[in-house]
Amino acid sequence: MITIATLAEHPELVPDVVEIAWREWGGLQPEHEHARWLREAERDSRLHSPTSAAFVALDGDRAVGVVQLHEFELDDMRDRSPWVCGMVVLPEYRGAGVGSRLLAALEQFAAGQRVPRLWVFTEHATAFYERCGWQRHGVAVQDDGPGIVLTRVLS
Ligand SMILES: CC(C)(COP(=O)(O)OP(=O)(O)OC[C@H]1O[C@@H](n2cnc3c(N)ncnc32)[C@H](O)[C@@H]1OP(=O)(O)O)[C@@H](O)C(=O)NCCC(=O)NCCS
Repeated sequence: MITIATLAEHPELVPDVVEIAWREWGGLQPEHEHARWLREAERDSRLHSPTSAAFVALDGDRAVGVVQLHEFELDDMRDRSPWVCGMVVLPEYRGAGVGSRLLAALEQFAAGQRVPRLWVFTEHATAFYERCGWQRHGVAVQDDGPGIVLTRVLS
């Protein structure tokens, strides 16, 4: 059974969730980025605010997915905040609703913090966010290439 928790409740899982993200995107990154990702996840596990939070999907006590909430994502869109970052589910757990449950937990938390609107930049998962009720806002370019910015108004 999959459960959703905060990384603040499971700081011992910080290395595991970074490993999941590193397996997905680390191949394109310089090695020193790994240490920065660890520092960010450690910060997310200590804080739990609209500018630093993380949610983890668990199968028993194993981390199988993660999503973070950060103040900024794209350098040229620092007038918008906060951003959904690092959404990733282990390949063998995809297509079973884990990602949408992680996103719903993050949205519920942000709404409770009176965040009026969330943002996300994605290269390959636009359809996932649209299935989850997000609206396309426009195109943008990050270091790795072009992608789509989507937004969701929270009630
Ligand atoms: C994107 C990702 C997190 C989705 O997680 P998931 O657990 O597979 O998502 P869910 O099972 O909750 O899917 C919810 C819906 O979105 C759809 N969906 C999921 N991933 C999709 C994708 N990459 N493209 C198109 N549709 C997708 C599912 O088919 C499902 O639709 P349904 O409601 O009609 O069944 C996962 O595919 C992943 O880790 N991808 C690689 C990393 C990535 O691209 N992350 C996004 C960074 S912004």
